[in-house]
Amino acid sequence: MTTSDHTDHRSHGSHADTAEVWMENTGTYPLVRPPVIDADEVWKTYRNGSLEVDALRGVSFKIRSGEYVAVMGPSGSGKSTLMHILGCLDVPTSGTFHLAGEDVSTMSEEELAHVRNRRIGFVFQQFNLLASMPAWRNVELPLLYAGVDRPERKRRALEALDRVGLESRVDHRPGELSGGQQQRVAMARALVTDPDLILADEPTGNLDSVSANDVLGLLDELHRSGRTIVLITHEADVAQAAERTMRIRDGQILGEQLADSAAASR
Ligand SMILES: Nc1ncnc2c1ncn2[C@@H]1O[C@H](COP(=O)(O)OP(=O)(O)O)[C@@H](O)[C@H]1O
Ligand SMILES: [Mg+2]
Repeated sequence: MTTSDHTDHRSHGSHADTAEVWMENTGTYPLVRPPVIDADEVWKTYRNGSLEVDALRGVSFKIRSGEYVAVMGPSGSGKSTLMHILGCLDVPTSGTFHLAGEDVSTMSEEELAHVRNRRIGFVFQQFNLLASMPAWRNVELPLLYAGVDRPERKRRALEALDRVGLESRVDHRPGELSGGQQQRVAMARALVTDPDLILADEPTGNLDSVSANDVLGLLDELHRSGRTIVLITHEADVAQAAERTMRIRDGQILGEQLADSAAASR
């Protein structure tokens, strides 16, 4: 199963090139790392009848493989819209968006679904867990969609739950878990496919400060193990967890800054 996981996307033509970029060794030659995310003059306009909202207004930026970046801005500034585009859940109205070197607008639905399922782990503010299913079944879902067989799904789901410190809660349903534990289940689900990119939209927004720190600690661990992390938040102290913060307001990127700790270590 593992072998086919790593090779079957090569049958999708241009995905072979994409895979090289995703899997490159990011630590050795930081200056030549190609951007994993490259947005150029991205606009997103929502149309509801005659009403138009420009949620993103010409956003351009790059994020390199292995970076930990925060996107910070007030409510309504376009953060979730941006995350939907980064996660291939939606497409720009105009402008271009390249993911791992590939223009997303040229990808087929099948390729997009493949990228979302295998390469990106999503974490949302509202956890988005299925209430009727125990923790391990929630965590195995992405593997089910990826066609992994049942014993392997369970093995990997339990491993992911162990990694987030929930080995003693694998049979609990979401309603039997605290908010912090539910978000850790969601994080186990995000990392069970071993994705290169983690997109987290206000992952600490519904949590007390202790649970929020747990979640940030896990993101930090994932970053140190080589994942690219994009953390979306409206809170400056949460954004401090990242190496670099891009500030967004009214659908535009205002500027960016390195975190104090990251700046100090450079
Ligand atoms: N599906 C939609 N239809 C119409 N307007 C939307 C839709 N989604 C978001 N918006 C609008 O786009 C702007 C940005 O929203 P959003 O990306 O959710 O911001 P944030 O996540 O920063 O709070 C807001 O003005 C919001 O009302
Ligand atoms: Mg939002």
